Amino acid sequence: MNEPADPARTSRIRESFTGRNAFILVAIGSAVGLGNIWRFPYVTYENGGGAFLIPYLVALLTAGIPILLFDYAIGYKFRGSPPMAFKRLHPSAEAIGWLQVGICFLIAIYYAAIIAWAAMYTWFSLTQAWGDDAEGFFFETFLQYDGGGAEGSGISVDFVAQVGWPLIVVWAVLLLALGSGVRRGITKMSTIGIPLLFLMFLILVAYSLTLDGATEGLNALFTPDWAALTSGTVWIQAYGQIFFTLSVGFGIMITYASYLKRKSNATGSGLVVGFTNSSFELLGAIGVFSALGFLAVASGTAVDEVASSGLGLAFVAFPTIVSEAPASTLVGVLFFGGLTMAGLTSQISIMEVVISAVKDKTGWARVTTVAIVGGATAVISIVLIGGASGVTLLDVVDAFSNNIGIVGAAFLSLVLVGWVYRRLGTLTAALNVYGSVRIGRTWKVMVGVVLPVVLAVLLVVDIRDKITEGYGGFDDWVVTTFGWGALGLVLVMAIVLSLLPWRGVSAMHLEDPDRDEAGKERV
Ligand code: ALA
Repeated sequence: MNEPADPARTSRIRESFTGRNAFILVAIGSAVGLGNIWRFPYVTYENGGGAFLIPYLVALLTAGIPILLFDYAIGYKFRGSPPMAFKRLHPSAEAIGWLQVGICFLIAIYYAAIIAWAAMYTWFSLTQAWGDDAEGFFFETFLQYDGGGAEGSGISVDFVAQVGWPLIVVWAVLLLALGSGVRRGITKMSTIGIPLLFLMFLILVAYSLTLDGATEGLNALFTPDWAALTSGTVWIQAYGQIFFTLSVGFGIMITYASYLKRKSNATGSGLVVGFTNSSFELLGAIGVFSALGFLAVASGTAVDEVASSGLGLAFVAFPTIVSEAPASTLVGVLFFGGLTMAGLTSQISIMEVVISAVKDKTGWARVTTVAIVGGATAVISIVLIGGASGVTLLDVVDAFSNNIGIVGAAFLSLVLVGWVYRRLGTLTAALNVYGSVRIGRTWKVMVGVVLPVVLAVLLVVDIRDKITEGYGGFDDWVVTTFGWGALGLVLVMAIVLSLLPWRGVSAMHLEDPDRDEAGKERV
């Protein structure tokens, strides 16, 4: 039998942030990422343009902030990576933690590739290497995209050197930083990256607003198209985007909150992080749409026609803007350099979930875990997404891991914690001891009742649509293998890993201090 947990001892063993400011900075570093700059504009475009802001804001207030606090509470109270924190919450809850780890693993595989593209485009900006055909350059010359299995052509993993090598460098930087630890690696990356990113984007947005056509772009962003609000897909995309952009529901904030010191104001920090992230997202959108307005006016088309290229938006529309805009090199370097920076500080948080989980479970040292698990993830990422079908795999894995994976894992964790294990009271109390913003009944009703219902409806709609309509026009076998198959594998692995024994020093600290061995609340 394991020794009873001693939280004080556990917190001595566990790494921690130097203080509240460091925590807020890394949490913002995680939240502000490719989701804000690369994903938000194209998801907005594909889901009703300006109308998307309404479901987005509803999702932020009804799901984003409440689940952010839910994640903080679990990490802060139970002080562990997701599998360890959930295991402490209840002995049979470990698999939910592994489910979140699996989702992070899927996201990490493709997220690194977009950082590598952005880094290359920072370089390309110096010479405007895309010439006058940004779309052809991105898909054909740079990615050497093969159509990704369309019409039975098969998925190719042929190494594309100009994509693969930068991806190797991105992974090397990430693994070095992860291996350096919570303070010297993760915190340092955000301490350098986030102020620089904010400065770069402020300059970029101020500049974009002065371009001819900026008003047309902003009109497109802020004019609601009410009809889009009746579409279930638009709502699930809004919730998916909120979870992704805030880094909630897939273990990141649980992991980061587990590195908080014992007496921390987690609620106050949570609100700062949540609202800073969405402010940055809107700021980024204002910059992106102003620039798109400029492009539309310069090319004599409507704003919604200049950016119809989905996930290539950032790499197709923006280079064109760079070519056309005054001070073009500066614009390109600020945009793509900012994207690279935002991506790195988020990717490190996604990978830290995987690393901390394996480290907790096995008792391995950080460096060993980073070398084995980080190294394996890097190899998979380089082979799959660095190849000629990378864009297809990225698109399919992103759609399934975000909308079904993250939303599904969030639904499961809320139902289990709220209704099966009945721990919302414990979580509320943990946050309220040192929290500057008190949470209570409204939060409990939100995470215990409203959100499970909303998420269940969204999930059913999305799963039904993907079953009946497939996804993105890709061949069924591609969607089945890399969408449903990847999620299925993550689910099976989550159950298998939760059944394996805990080893190492962490195994001594698995019990929840508030529960006895039978799982009953101590009195
Ligand atoms: N929160 C991170 C992003 O927005 C994952 O990209």
